[in-house]
Amino acid sequence: MSVAKGGGGGGGREGGRSLKVKVSSKHGRRTQSSKLWLERQLNDPYVAQAKRDGWRSRAAFKLLEIDERYKLLKPGQKIVDLGAAPGGWSQVAAKIVGSRGRVIGIDLLDIETIAGVEFKVMDFNDASAPEWLKETLGGKADGVMSDMAANTTGHRKTDHLKIIALAELAVEFAREVLAPGGFFISKVFQGGSEGEVLASLKRDFTTVRHVKPKASRAGSPELYVLATGFRGPGEE
Ligand SMILES: C[S@@+](CC[C@H](N)C(=O)[O-])C[C@H]1O[C@@H](n2cnc3c(N)ncnc32)[C@H](O)[C@@H]1O
Repeated sequence: MSVAKGGGGGGGREGGRSLKVKVSSKHGRRTQSSKLWLERQLNDPYVAQAKRDGWRSRAAFKLLEIDERYKLLKPGQKIVDLGAAPGGWSQVAAKIVGSRGRVIGIDLLDIETIAGVEFKVMDFNDASAPEWLKETLGGKADGVMSDMAANTTGHRKTDHLKIIALAELAVEFAREVLAPGGFFISKVFQGGSEGEVLASLKRDFTTVRHVKPKASRAGSPELYVLATGFRGPGEE
């Protein structure tokens, strides 16, 4: 099945001519970091491609690439998407699981409705979030995906610890809701303790690996931990 296009349409320039865009700080009161961010967005081929193909985010390409390689998503599955906004991963999942499947997502930020996705604005750190997700699922999930990233502070160690704390919460949740054979994928940052998340998953999944998709910026410490073949709830 080809899901290269998101289906939402989107204009964008055709033809693939790549002209490097420079953002002038003379216009408006941009800080240096927002100027760099804007320049990076304007020159990022994945951003342009996402716009052309109708994906809500360039992040959609990360999931497409990982799914192409590891065949995670299948028609009829129930998938949970943590940190779903603006909705790229949910779009990819909804497209593949189809009308027999379900995609349930949450985020601190609201998203525009996506066909086939049940979404609620929630903080995953609140106890009500896993409760709502479990209630809405009404059974087991085939996959739990987390692309959650707390706002960065610029302090690498602090940012790393924040993301690992979110990943650990997501692991705990996945252990409770996954059906045997299910998969878990979560964003982590390279920085020391991402190995601990991986080690803790090894007990419950047959295969656990780190994945760095091409669409993940080369200079970024972003990394994904992918666990497949959930063994089922363990004995306490
Ligand atoms: C990289 S973005 C996700 C992109 C998304 N996968 C996509 O394809 O469009 C990370 C998201 O995590 C969300 N997030 C961060 N902390 C969260 C939390 N505690 N609860 C829920 N969402 C959270 C952010 O609001 C942000 O929208």
